[in-house]
Amino acid sequence: MSNAEILDGRSLADEIKLNLRRQIVTNNLTPNLAVVLVGDDVASHLYVQLKTRACEKMGIQVSTYLLNKNCKVAEIKKTINWLNQDKTIDAILVQLPLPDQIDENEMINMIDPAKDADGFHPVNLAKMYKNKSIVLPAPAHAVVKLITASRNFRANLTAVVIANNDIFFQPIHHLLKQYNIQTNYYAPADIDLVADELRAVDILIVAVGKPNLITSRHIKDGAIVIDVGTNKINQTIVGDIDFADVINIAGSITPVPGGVGPMTIACLLENVVNLHKNK
Ligand code: GUN
Repeated sequence: MSNAEILDGRSLADEIKLNLRRQIVTNNLTPNLAVVLVGDDVASHLYVQLKTRACEKMGIQVSTYLLNKNCKVAEIKKTINWLNQDKTIDAILVQLPLPDQIDENEMINMIDPAKDADGFHPVNLAKMYKNKSIVLPAPAHAVVKLITASRNFRANLTAVVIANNDIFFQPIHHLLKQYNIQTNYYAPADIDLVADELRAVDILIVAVGKPNLITSRHIKDGAIVIDVGTNKINQTIVGDIDFADVINIAGSITPVPGGVGPMTIACLLENVVNLHKNK
């Protein structure tokens, strides 16, 4: 029998949402979010549907702007510019990934930082590094909230992020540094090279997109294990971690689904409410 703690993202997200709902009702807030969705990627449409449903339950109005997958860069720019200038819009989210012909960074950089629902704009990232931003990148914020909610969490631990690029790692590194936690980053190709370090690290965060990439042989006894992966096998959603195996050795572990996903949405809602209050 495993003694691992399951880090339940749904119930933690419910607590955040209850608090936001209280703020909205008590202060008669009327936040709204504009979503720009380009193309017909099934997963992106599903994510936008989940975000929309969560917003609407909360009393956040959502308007979605659908663009064709072959649309010109100029059309997306025009949409973002128009939303930037519309004084009634509080927050803008451009769903990623964008089709190949579109430069994602260019689009993110076009969003007015005062309306940046994801907290991905460089102006907001720079503010975050000075602890002055009212929006935090939702996926990184979700991961750190789950880690700090763990019964095995304390300051001065060590952490590793395994991801396809370091864009996701940088904000986690910054947020965990506040607890004096040193975080290292590795690409999936490095896993065998750094196997000894993985087996010694207190917190392991994996965001690659490969089922069963991580098994118990990669994990320290009692570690906090955070699975950011979402992979579809037949009709089942699984993460990057072999849950049934790793649960026997981990101290705390996030399930997929029901871990990082719902927390990321809750953190997005928090950003939207903060942007509205700051208007
Ligand atoms: N696609 C996958 N995750 C995200 C996210 O957090 N924000 C946006 N805009 N797109 C995504």
